[in-house]
Parts: sequence; structure tokens; C-alpha cells
Amino acid sequence: MADEQRVSGHYSSGKLMERLRTALAAEGIDPDRPTVEQLAPFDHFHGRGLEATQQAANLVAASSADHILDVGSGIGGPARYFAKRFGCRVTGIDLTVEFCEVARGLTHAVGLADRVKFEQGNALAMPFPDASFDGAYSMNVSMNIADKPGLFREIRRVLKPGAWFVLAEIAQGPAGPPTYPTPWARTAGTSFLATPDETHAALAAVGFTIVQSRDTVAEATAFTARSRALIARGEKPPFHAVYLIHGELAREMAANGARDLAAGKTIPLEILCRA
Ligand SMILES: C[S@@+](CC[C@H](N)C(=O)[O-])C[C@H]1O[C@@H](n2cnc3c(N)ncnc32)[C@H](O)[C@@H]1O
Repeated sequence: MADEQRVSGHYSSGKLMERLRTALAAEGIDPDRPTVEQLAPFDHFHGRGLEATQQAANLVAASSADHILDVGSGIGGPARYFAKRFGCRVTGIDLTVEFCEVARGLTHAVGLADRVKFEQGNALAMPFPDASFDGAYSMNVSMNIADKPGLFREIRRVLKPGAWFVLAEIAQGPAGPPTYPTPWARTAGTSFLATPDETHAALAAVGFTIVQSRDTVAEATAFTARSRALIARGEKPPFHAVYLIHGELAREMAANGARDLAAGKTIPLEILCRA
């Protein structure tokens, strides 16, 4: 089976919209008319959820005239956040059919369907002309893609010269491979972590200029501690996306993630570059 099929198989349950509607209703939120803010604990599917999306957005100065690309858009939380914050258009592309369907449904429900669109497709061969976008970001997607030079070349191709690109990813740390299952892969077969140096080199090799790069280990560690304290007090953790998407397996994934971060097996990275 091709990597792409195994990756989208990892993320698909066929039950996501049903689970999401149940979870929203349980919080007293109308599943047919949620707001972008009410969806935030559920639809930012990466470590630290909304907090990490806000930090990525803080790095750029987008305007309402801009058209931004979300590479590996998931169920669209980051795309709706960027669109609302900057008043811009956002196009997301994602491999997983079910995620694109849920992303479109939620975007329609919050009233952003005129500005936020989702295409099902592969980030390695995007159906967009050269130099189409004013900026792009990709949040926790590259871990599923072996061909990093191919991914970064394709993103650079669709960006206008000088446009920004924010990459958030989990990098390979010095202490050995991650423990599976992780939120992005059940086995090593669909997990392709690069070290920070390898990612920097791959970005530079296709012509990106790295403006800044930092690890967010301290924030991720603090976020994990805050979530644990809430759970210990019988309260809800601030981030439910992984539980909605992965069901029962999510608990084990979250525990592995916290241990691997503490052990130095994984390093969350946030990089701003220019095409
Ligand atoms: C951990 S989720 C992150 C989703 C979203 N970026 C977010 O932060 O909410 C990883 C996403 O990458 C997508 N993905 C993985 N490989 C891809 C590829 N080659 N092309 C497009 N999307 C891909 C998956 O379908 C999944 O939606």
C-alpha cells in the first residue's frame, strides 16, 4: 500500500462528524451553529492546539487581501482561525477525505465557506498554479511525509516570491525514535521525522530563507503539565482533538508523546521562512 493510503487510513474513522457533534452537544454547543472559538478545543489537531496556531499566526503580517495556503489542513481549525483573524482567504489541502468533508461542514456551519475552501489532495503534487499564494503554513504534517525536499519544493512553487511560510513540526530528537502509537502514526511505517538540522537544510536547499527557527519544548512541557493538573482535578483538558480523532488509542498516544518529549526523542519546532 502506498504511504498516502496508509496515512489517510491512520486518520480516518468514518465516525468523526458524529463524535464531534456528540462532543459539542455535551458542552452545550449547538453542533449546527458553533463559533470558531467554540470549536477551538476540538479542531486544532496538533500539540498545544489553538495556542500553537496563535503563535504561528503571530509570526506573520497577513492582510484581508491575502490568499493563504494551509498544507495538510486536517479538519480546518487553523484555516478558520487564520481567516477570522486576518480577514483573508485560506485554501487548505489534505490527503484524508473524511477530514476534508468535516472541514467543509464546520466551515459552512461557522459562516466562513465563502473564504475558506478545502481540496482533497497530496501536498507533494498540489493542484495549484505556480506563485498562487501570499503565504503558507503547515502544522504537524511533515512527519507523515518522507520526501521533505519534494514537499518543501512544492510549497515554494505555489508561493509568490518573498511570501512567508511557517512550518510547525515534530522533529527527531537525539534520544532515539518515538514510541508508537503517536498521534501521527501507529507504526514507524508512516512516520518520517527529520532532525532540526535536516529540516533546515531541506528548506534552504529548495530556496527558502530561514528567518527564525526555535523549538517549543518549554511550551509543550508546560502545556502537558497544565493538562495533567486539570485532569487530576477532574476537569477537562484544554485540547480534545486527538481524542475525537483517535478514540480509545488517544490516551496511549498522549502518554507516549509526553514521555518522548521529556526524554528528548521528539522536538516540536516552529520555523518562519521566506520564499
Ligand atoms: C496531525 S494532522 C494535522 C492537521 C492540521 N494541520 C491541524 O494542525 O489541525 C496531520 C494531517 O496531515 C495530513 N497529511 C499527511 N500527509 C499528507 C500529504 N502527503 N498531503 C496532504 N496532507 C497530508 C493528514 O491527512 C492530516 O490531516
